[in-house]
Amino acid sequence: MAHIQASVVITLLIWAAVSVSGTTTELSTTAGDTVNIACLFGEGTVINIYWYYNNGTGRQKLLFLAKGNITLGAEYANRASLQDDNSTLILENITVVDVGTYCCVVDRKGQIPVQNINTKLNVFSLRPDTLPVIPSCTGADESSSCSIHANQSFTLNCTLPNVYPVEDTELIWYHDRKHFPSIPEVTQNDDGTTDIIRHIKIYETGNFTCNATYLSANGRENTAVSVEARIIIIPAIIPPTDEPNTPDKNLTDGPIVGIALSVATVLIVGILLCIYCLKTRSHCCSKRDGQNSKVVQADPGMYTTLL
Ligand SMILES: *[C@@H]1O[C@H](CO)[C@@H](O)[C@H](O)[C@H]1NC(C)=O
Ligand SMILES: *[C@@H]1O[C@H](CO)[C@@H](O)[C@H](O)[C@H]1NC(C)=O
Ligand SMILES: *[C@@H]1O[C@H](CO)[C@@H](O)[C@H](O)[C@H]1NC(C)=O
Ligand SMILES: *[C@@H]1O[C@H](CO)[C@@H](O)[C@H](O)[C@H]1NC(C)=O
Ligand SMILES: *[C@@H]1O[C@H](CO)[C@@H](O)[C@H](O)[C@H]1NC(C)=O
Ligand SMILES: *[C@@H]1O[C@H](CO)[C@@H](O)[C@H](O)[C@H]1NC(C)=O
Ligand SMILES: *[C@@H]1O[C@H](CO)[C@@H](O)[C@H](O)[C@H]1NC(C)=O
Ligand SMILES: *[C@@H]1O[C@H](CO)[C@@H](O)[C@H](O)[C@H]1NC(C)=O
Repeated sequence: MAHIQASVVITLLIWAAVSVSGTTTELSTTAGDTVNIACLFGEGTVINIYWYYNNGTGRQKLLFLAKGNITLGAEYANRASLQDDNSTLILENITVVDVGTYCCVVDRKGQIPVQNINTKLNVFSLRPDTLPVIPSCTGADESSSCSIHANQSFTLNCTLPNVYPVEDTELIWYHDRKHFPSIPEVTQNDDGTTDIIRHIKIYETGNFTCNATYLSANGRENTAVSVEARIIIIPAIIPPTDEPNTPDKNLTDGPIVGIALSVATVLIVGILLCIYCLKTRSHCCSKRDGQNSKVVQADPGMYTTLL
């Protein structure tokens, strides 16, 4: 991608250098970077050069080199300068409000002045390979875990902060590779950028992936972050005497007496088997008890169901 773009820029530079004035070249940069904007006038030694910025509401002074002195427009005091041969403007600390057209007018030694050579500057706030952020689940690892409680929903947010430009930006959630509907939210920031957020409510385990599509100085980007959601059950407090009491309470009803009797028979047989087992092998009983429990201990004080 960078390779293709480089050749496009070189082609534009040659083309612009040949056709001199009346053309507009285009540059792309990332917010925070420094950009060098060449005044593409072709041959000659600069005597005076006048740089203007135009964002669509009329041009304003940026930097003038006249009679050997450099003067700067008020907003460019600490960040505009000229490169060695005075034909290239250096603009530091680019922000998204620097998007617009940069125009130069140049006086050269022994040649007629060249008017209005324009360069269009595109600024992208996101660097190539910027990942979306899932705030509550992103650890050092790109893929990490989230815990959800059984029968409760859990909100996952996927955020792409400080986006500019907003067009062609998209966040999509996938659940185990299938599109998962989400609620969009857009917040405008003071610096001209936009935060894009997509919320999902999850109730189930699985891998949730947030794919981001956006534009950077390198072109269209596609990145993704995944989290794995796990269900956690915090066990209800069970009184230890609960199980042996249940059959006794229902002894008055006929059919239930029958069931209770068969249960009792099974229990007695079981106990007898256990006693028999205990005499032969000591761990037989604990294996039988284990079959009544669906809960498997994972951490001290916390139980995880195996779904
Ligand atoms: C253009 O720049 C002027 C002065 O910096 C600013 O007041 C205006 O809002 C800008 N217009 C746009 C469309 O960015
Ligand atoms: C660029 O302009 C400065 C200020 O007038 C001057 O001192 C310097 O010699 C110029 N450089 C070239 C290469 O013309
Ligand atoms: C250029 O600037 C110097 C000092 O900043 C000043 O003395 C001189 O008069 C200026 N020259 C012109 C032509 O404005
Ligand atoms: C760049 O601009 C930002 C915002 O205007 C400012 O906070 C920061 O200090 C500037 N950095 C440099 C190196 O000038
Ligand atoms: C979750 O809901 C199901 C059916 O809606 C219910 O059988 C189960 O007991 C509930 N579990 C918890 C931990 O609330
Ligand atoms: C997700 O965003 C919503 C609304 O902005 C917020 O209420 C919630 O706490 C966030 N959840 C997480 C896990 O960050
Ligand atoms: C989620 O993905 C990880 C690795 O990418 C895998 O080990 C795990 O089994 C997946 N979990 C589910 C529930 O698909
Ligand atoms: C999401 O992004 C990943 C990594 O960039 C990519 O491999 C995957 O195909 C994307 N998924 C979809 C459905 O676009």
